[in-house]
Amino acid sequence: MDKPLLELENVSTGYGIIPVLHGINLSVGKGDIYALLGPNGGGKSTILKVCSRQIDPWAGSVKVAGRSIEGIAAEDLAKAGVCTIPEGKGIFPNLTVEENLIMMTHACQSLQAIQSVTFERFPQLGNKRNQLAGTLSGGEQQMLSMSRALSTNPKLLLLDELSMGLAPIIVKDLYGIVSQLAEEGIGVLVVEQFARTVLGVATRAGILINGKIISEGSPAELEDQLSDAYLGTKGNV
Ligand SMILES: Nc1ncnc2c1ncn2[C@@H]1O[C@H](COP(=O)(O)OP(=O)(O)OP(=O)(O)O)[C@@H](O)[C@H]1O
Ligand SMILES: [Mg+2]
Repeated sequence: MDKPLLELENVSTGYGIIPVLHGINLSVGKGDIYALLGPNGGGKSTILKVCSRQIDPWAGSVKVAGRSIEGIAAEDLAKAGVCTIPEGKGIFPNLTVEENLIMMTHACQSLQAIQSVTFERFPQLGNKRNQLAGTLSGGEQQMLSMSRALSTNPKLLLLDELSMGLAPIIVKDLYGIVSQLAEEGIGVLVVEQFARTVLGVATRAGILINGKIISEGSPAELEDQLSDAYLGTKGNV
């Protein structure tokens, strides 16, 4: 059997002396989309940081494709196929769209290949290739950051708040792309606050509160709990 692409075992960590995550267990396999939901400050972004070695666990282990990532350089992790799209999108606002794509060529692909994948998927970006990325709309910036995911041929995609500030229709499109990537065999860990759209494509979901996964299950099971426990209504999130 294939080893999970990502496995967290009993991971605890924090900043300085302040603990944030407490005994996190989580596993993402090939083709999985794991949606981790929860309120502000719960530790969602911290989980992604610990998976991309921006911070280290205080206890427990993080494994990518069965190997502990302890001591591995962040760039080697990227070479091993871990692609992070951080909160705030991870693009260069003072560079144009095209220059941002040039920055993506370090992952072995030619600019031409990256451009053709990007502009085919997001024609809107093709028309704005000379525009500064920072002046693109929020949705267009997210498309550009997704282009990075597409250009690096990732095995494991770590996505932080894909839906932040975007119209539902754009969020749906972006999650459509995430879904296609998963069908091609990529594993995805995505964190969101309470966006329901992600539950439509997720294969598994968890709720993170105060640094603990308090519940885990199928998207349908979690959706019921979100409504009952955190929204109080079947709101339109
Ligand atoms: N660099 C940092 N230094 C100190 N504390 C931090 C740092 N980054 C995050 N924290 C704290 O860690 C806790 C978890 O933050 P984190 O960003 O992981 O939450 P989150 O679930 O992603 O929240 P949000 O939904 O608002 O993005 C918060 O209390 C936050 O203040
Ligand atoms: Mg966050």
